[in-house]
Parts: sequence; structure tokens; C-alpha cells
Amino acid sequence: MYEILKKQNLAPSIKEFLISSPEIARKAQPGQFVVVRIDERGERIPLTIAEYERDKGTITIVIQEAGKSTYHLGRLDSGDTLSDVIGPLGRPTHMQDVGTVVCVGGGVGIPPIYPLARGLREIGNRVISIIGARTRELVIWEDKIASVSDEVHVTTDDGSYGRKGFVSNELQRLIEGGRELGLVFAVGPTLMMRAVSEVTRPYKIRTMVSLNPIMVDATGMCGVCRVSVGGETKFVCVDGPDFDAHQVDFNQLLSRQRIYIQEEKKALQRYNSLHKHGKLK
Ligand code: NAD
Ligand code: FES
Repeated sequence: MYEILKKQNLAPSIKEFLISSPEIARKAQPGQFVVVRIDERGERIPLTIAEYERDKGTITIVIQEAGKSTYHLGRLDSGDTLSDVIGPLGRPTHMQDVGTVVCVGGGVGIPPIYPLARGLREIGNRVISIIGARTRELVIWEDKIASVSDEVHVTTDDGSYGRKGFVSNELQRLIEGGRELGLVFAVGPTLMMRAVSEVTRPYKIRTMVSLNPIMVDATGMCGVCRVSVGGETKFVCVDGPDFDAHQVDFNQLLSRQRIYIQEEKKALQRYNSLHKHGKLK
């Protein structure tokens, strides 16, 4: 059992959990993820490790309530326990000093760039972070990202905070302003990562993305998380989650992310109905 030591509501539907997990905290590296199960019958939920503190034996995950399992997770509180937290999984991000790096985080993809920015800065890079959300109240972890960045640019789709537009527009602006960039790293919705990839492609700026396909076993056995990268099939859970954005077949990934959409809708409706009638524990 893994205890939730602290829970914070960051924004409507976005929750942060501090979890006691000394073994994972000891081994975790930037870019890695865990698979969480609320109880023995629960769905396996892959979540990027947003922070790990080795001395305290804790990891932090940030979730967005989107489907049945994440709503269920969002209802838990400090003192509750999770039956499984498995990890760290996936390959750690390859860290290298390339001069200037831009870390781009969109929505709930913002917290996962924290360990990346921190790690890339520690080895000597100048780190520019671009974080963006639909509206002001969804801009999360701005202070934490600022604490590990040399510069932070904030965007909102509706212009309620920071510059109006997408994170990819801000990246385009930086590049057109003549910034020499050695690497761009993007985490967030797949459409955003595809847009970032298209911004950097003409300039041949090395661009990495952290992919988040549907996962089932997260051990490389079931094949559900497969993606095409440079024409080769890769399993995100064991070969990734980081890949060269310019080689990723984003259209295939987008269509594979939608394969269980009807089942997910039905499961959420059933969960909401049970919740409404007080039939959930
Ligand atoms: P969202 O749809 O609110 O978008 C967040 C920001 O991304 C927007 O404000 C915008 O700046 C940018 N964006 C969105 N669509 C874009 C487009 N078409 N072109 C350019 N930029 C675009 O995001 P959300 O609802 O917070 O969802 C976040 C997503 O991040 C989820 O799909 C989640 O699964 C994913 N995620 C991925 C990882 C990972 O490791 N890859 C980790 C956490 C979350
Ligand atoms: Fe099953 Fe990756 S989730 S192979």
C-alpha cells in the first residue's frame, strides 16, 4: 500500500498528490513514469513522475480528471492509500549540454517538464520554459517551473494571462526572434506536441516529445502503446516515452488514442451514476 501524504487542488479537475514511495523516489530519473492502481480491481493509470524527493522518499503526480479512473483517483485524499504504484518505468530522458534548451509544457503536461528543466539546467544548459493552458486558472506550477528556468514564457488560449495563443506560437516567436536553440522538449496534448514539432522542423532544431498513448500492461507485452517512429514500431512503455518528434507518426498516435473512446464514455457514465446515487465506497 502507498499512502497519499498530501493532496492539493491545483485547478478545477487538476489534482496534485504527494505519495510515499521510497523505492521509486530512490531510483526515479527525469522523464520516467509510474503506473497507479487505486485498488486490486482498478485500471492501471500511467502517470509521469512530476517530482521525486529521494531524501523524503516521496514522489509527486499531477492528474487531470478525464475518465472514470482519474475521477476516482481525484476523490481520494491525504491519508488514503493506493494499492499499487509501479515504477519507475520507461527510459530516463537523455540529458546533454547543448547550450540553450526550450522546455514546452501544455496543460497537465506542465508539471512533467519540471524534472527535465531542473536536470537540463544542472548540467549547464540555459533553460527557457514555455508553459501554456486554455485559461488563467489552468496555468499550474508556474513558480516551480520558474525556479528551475532562466526564463519563463506563459501563454493562454484566451489571453486571460500571459501572451494570448498556443505554446507553439510562443516558440515560433522565439525562433523568429533569432534565438539559437540546441534542443526543444515538449510535453502535453498530442496535438500540441505535433504543432511544436512542425514549428521546429523547418529550422532542423532537435525536438523531443514525451508520448502518452493508451497503455495496458506497461511492460512491453500487450502492444497497446505502439507508435510508429521513423517507420519502425516502438512500444512507448519500454522504448520511450521520449522520442524524436520529427520521426513520430502523430496521426497514427492520435487515431490510436481514440480507439476506446466509446468504452471510456460508458465507464464514466456508469461511474457518475453510481456516484450520484451514493453507491460508491
Ligand atoms: P489542453 O488541451 O488544455 O492544452 C494545453 C495547452 O497545449 C494549450 O493551452 C496550448 O498552448 C497547447 N495546445 C493544445 N492544443 C494545441 C494545438 N492544437 N496546437 C498547438 N498547441 C496546442 O491540455 P490539457 O487538457 O491540460 O491536456 C493535457 C494533455 O497532456 C492530456 O492529453 C494529457 O494526456 C497530456 N499529458 C501528457 C503527458 C506526457 O507525458 N506526454 C504528461 C501529462 C499530460
Ligand atoms: Fe503494453 Fe506498452 S502498454 S506494450
